[in-house]
Amino acid sequence: MWNELKLMGTLAPQPYVIRTGVPSDASQLAEHWGSGLSANQTRVIHRYFGDMDHGDQYSIVAVIDSRIIGQIWVRLNQMDPNIADAETDCYLHTLFVLEEYRRQGVGKELVDMACEYGKLVGRTSAIIGVDRPNDYAKDLYEKWGFEQFSEICDLRGDLILLRRLVAAIPSNV
Ligand SMILES: CC(C)(COP(=O)(O)OP(=O)(O)OC[C@H]1O[C@@H](n2cnc3c(N)ncnc32)[C@H](O)[C@@H]1OP(=O)(O)O)[C@@H](O)C(=O)NCCC(=O)NCCS
Repeated sequence: MWNELKLMGTLAPQPYVIRTGVPSDASQLAEHWGSGLSANQTRVIHRYFGDMDHGDQYSIVAVIDSRIIGQIWVRLNQMDPNIADAETDCYLHTLFVLEEYRRQGVGKELVDMACEYGKLVGRTSAIIGVDRPNDYAKDLYEKWGFEQFSEICDLRGDLILLRRLVAAIPSNV
């Protein structure tokens, strides 16, 4: 069902497909960090796919032909409770679009699909974190309907946290 989902992007000069990421995508996904970091990142991505096997996270990628041009991950479990509630929230991370494909709507489509996935698995909010110097991404997230609700500054860095509702909050009535 979700695994078979394919969307044709309409805004990019070339049509792209949004699909579920699979373990054989790992080396291309790691290349998004640049060839210097890709060996370490391949290990990280394989760990993420291991999490996916356990239902703890989910991978969504944007593809043109067989080239992966963008990625986002949706974490569902094992989240810092100060950041996200594993019952009601999903945490979006590792959003990246290859430079030559930016400003064509791919990033927004990845975020929208990640929110749809969170809704599909019963979460009411999507949370995304942005490093404080990344004002560009923060402004984009606000344009896409996220609102800042918290910030943390610790060993993980200086993070601004934003939230977007993805589903109606169940009423007690
Ligand atoms: C942040 C990031 C994912 C955004 O991806 P993107 O694909 O460029 O995002 P979008 O195309 O959906 O939106 C970007 C801009 O393009 C504009 N745009 C979208 N489609 C467009 C089109 N067809 N023509 C012209 N502009 C368009 C959007 O309105 C937005 O404009 P703005 O900058 O004026 O607000 C990308 O810049 C990136 O990978 N950055 C490096 C990694 C990073 O910072 N990740 C976030 C970590 S928190």
